[in-house]
Amino acid sequence: MSSELIHYLNPFKQSILSRESGYFLCRLTGEKFPILNDIPRFCPADNYSESFGFQWNQFDRTQLDVHSGADLSQQRFYAETGWDPQELSHCSVLEVGSGAGRFSEVFLRTTTGVLHSVDYSSAVDANRRNNAAYGDRLQLAQASIYELPFADNSFDKVFCLGVLQHTPSFSDSVAALISKTRVGGEIVVDFYCIKGWHTKIHSKYMLRPLTKRLPKPLLLKLIRFNIRWMLALFDLLCALHLTAITRFIPITDVRGFPRNLSPAQRREWAVMDTFDGFSPEYDNPQRAQDVARMFSSRGCDVTHAGLVHYPGGSGMVVRAIKRVV
Ligand SMILES: C[S@@+](CC[C@H](N)C(=O)[O-])C[C@H]1O[C@@H](n2cnc3c(N)ncnc32)[C@H](O)[C@@H]1O
Repeated sequence: MSSELIHYLNPFKQSILSRESGYFLCRLTGEKFPILNDIPRFCPADNYSESFGFQWNQFDRTQLDVHSGADLSQQRFYAETGWDPQELSHCSVLEVGSGAGRFSEVFLRTTTGVLHSVDYSSAVDANRRNNAAYGDRLQLAQASIYELPFADNSFDKVFCLGVLQHTPSFSDSVAALISKTRVGGEIVVDFYCIKGWHTKIHSKYMLRPLTKRLPKPLLLKLIRFNIRWMLALFDLLCALHLTAITRFIPITDVRGFPRNLSPAQRREWAVMDTFDGFSPEYDNPQRAQDVARMFSSRGCDVTHAGLVHYPGGSGMVVRAIKRVV
């Protein structure tokens, strides 16, 4: 295994691309893929994920460990993947759905390897700003999980954290991750889970049909305007041991936030995370055993399917090793 550079291919034809000034050219089809802000773009700028582009360019640094002073992203990354930074330094690694790059930053800071990272939205611009210091070690592209600009069977490690529930087909997304992984390579995903019949009896799922259609700046304004009383009420209900009722306040669950945040930082996290819940086009929570089946039915050995705890939170995680091409 080595931390080699994986070259971009035409995601639609899997044909070779040559780098010209300002774009990648596919000589087979004549297609040009623009390079903007030093980031190749393999998808239309206007797509269902743009609420995330808006979000991550507004809140580009909020959740970055180096900005928050917490190590939540690092704890989550290593607890959920179970990976070793030394080993990772020598692997070909793909991150899908990097957002503003909180996990890209962890990878780049704690290993010496190259990270290939994509996101479908203009969040890639935020990631580039946040991780510019790492230069070519961050190979960033704007692309969809369904049309990844890499050859099949390319990567030793693939991770996709906080993304799959926001894609239109969870199982097609899993298939796409598997296809880019080498035989013997490992895939780690985390996702919103279905905890029971009550999961969708929640202000988020009740209001999303409306809120996801609101203009994004308006939605953000509404959340900002209401955040103080919602936070105060949420905290009060928790203090009174009435946590079950907090699901009816249209605010994110703030209990997993790092303890060291200042009140202003905590409010900013709450605004961002609430927007993150109420704005996306898709929000499809899953059962761990169903996700495990999506991997095993496609030739993978599932090595973990369940909750992973780390200081400050927990995530529903599936890890799998690809066994057959
Ligand atoms: C909740 S954010 C998580 C970002 C980052 N992994 C994190 O945890 O901070 C979900 C991300 O998935 C990306 N995404 C959604 N659909 C995608 C797709 N089809 N292909 C690639 N990325 C996608 C969004 O643009 C967004 O940045």
